[in-house]
Order: sequence, then C-alpha cells, then structure tokens
Amino acid sequence: MSKPTYGSDNSMQTITINTLKKMKQAGEKFVVLTVYDASFAAVLENAGVEVLFTGDSLGMVVQGHETTVPVTIDHMVYHTSLVARVRNNALLMSDMPFMSFSDPGRALDNASRLMQEGGAQIVKLEGGGDTIRVVENLAKHGVPVCGHLGLQPQSVHKLGGYRVQGREKEAAQTMLNDAKAMQDAGADLLLLECVPASLAKTITETLSIPTIGIGAGRDCDSQVLVLYDLLGISMGHRPKFSKDFIADLTGEISIEAAVRAYVQAVKQKQFPADQHTFE
Ligand code: KIV
Repeated sequence: MSKPTYGSDNSMQTITINTLKKMKQAGEKFVVLTVYDASFAAVLENAGVEVLFTGDSLGMVVQGHETTVPVTIDHMVYHTSLVARVRNNALLMSDMPFMSFSDPGRALDNASRLMQEGGAQIVKLEGGGDTIRVVENLAKHGVPVCGHLGLQPQSVHKLGGYRVQGREKEAAQTMLNDAKAMQDAGADLLLLECVPASLAKTITETLSIPTIGIGAGRDCDSQVLVLYDLLGISMGHRPKFSKDFIADLTGEISIEAAVRAYVQAVKQKQFPADQHTFE
C-alpha cells in the first residue's frame, strides 16, 4: 500500500490544504478524526491521521451535553489550543460552534480567535444558503474554511432530530447547488454528514475541493469519525455510520492500534462498509 503522506524516515510530512487537494487529484484517501486534548492528539498523529479535528462534538462526548448547542467559542479555543500544543505535522481543523458565525463580521472575529489563540489552521462551519456569504468573507480574509452540508447537528432542535439529509430529489439538488456555491465562495474542504452515498459521490465528483464524509458512503475523498465512537466509549446511541475499532482488534489491543486500524481501513477503502452507509 502506498503511504503518500510519509517521508523516507516514515514520519508524516507536513499536511497542508494543498496536500489534501493533491491527494484528491491522485485518488488517495486522507483520514480525519476528532480530538479534544493533547494526549490523544499525539496518539492520533503517531497513528497517521492527517487532519486532527477539534469538533464541537466535544459538547456531547467530553462535556456530557445532549447536543452540541451549549458549546461556546471559549470552549473551542481552549480545546483547540490543547491539540495545537502537541501537533507536529498533521493539519489542525477547529469547529465554529452554534451562533459563532451568525453574520460575516462575527464569524471573522471568532475564526480569528480559533486561529490566533487556539492555533487552528482551518475552521469548519455548518450550513448552506446564507452561510455561503460568511464563507466568502472568511476566504477573502485568508481564513481557510471547511463547509459542512447534510445533517447539521447544531440545528437539531430545528430539524427535530438527527436524520439523513438529501434523500428527496429537490433536497439533493439544493445540496449539490450549495456545495458548488461553497466551493465558488472559497471553501477549501467540504464535510458531508448523513447523506445518501450516491449524492455524496456526485458532490465529490463535481467538486475540485476534497470532501470529508461521515455517514456519506465510501466515495468521499476522506472520512471522519468521532474519536470516542471509534474507541467504543461514547455514551448513549451509537450512530449507524460509526464503528468501534477497539472491539474489532486482533493482536495488539491499544488506542493507537485502533486508530491505525481506522487509518488503514479508510486508505484501503474498507471503511465505511455497506452497513455504515445510507441509501
Ligand atoms: O464536531 C464533530 O465531531 C463533527 C462531526 C461531523 C465529525 O462535526
């Protein structure tokens, strides 16, 4: 198996947005995993995870809330900075929490905090439609952005639950249009959550920027999971798209071995399998 992100001494090369774009062009998958502290960040990077993602899922898996809505920009800056302290060569992406990007000016202020105080190298924000002008303003000011379409957990109270998005023809077309508009506005990456695999494939093939899938089938340019789901320690309901990689280990049982198994499975296109995918 080729290891495109490793140098001759087997250490990971510095990952930039351009590295990820080149990997897409070459048809090579990259790997994203959530992380909220320094110790796990070191393990993930050793295991070959190219993008360390401090997601607002920390509200659920670290803080014990029922949703990501209570997470604040201060929480995000703090947890991002813990990861940044030990990061070497992986790219560090951080989430903009609920209401932190409600208008372009506010988004710019909060993205600046994530980058200057937190050490983030790219910010992610949920939503299509009006959010596109926010993306445009961030990009214009030199802030790298990852869009997030499909299921948007920050809108769970509006949606009335966590459901697959884009199953109807009109909703699928709107998502495709939003994806193109996001790219035109200057987004560098696009995350697709809980989207039928065929729609995620169309979006991935249409865009030149890389897509990151979670519950979006195996044709996205990369995959992301919530670390605690991968380790089988999440409380409550485990989503269909997640996989407990600890439970499946044979041989060495360790957190790093589980993360390595995830990295290999994504790169070899074995994860997600059919049972993790929506039609
Ligand atoms: O915050 C998060 O963990 C996310 C997931 C989609 C990976 O945004």
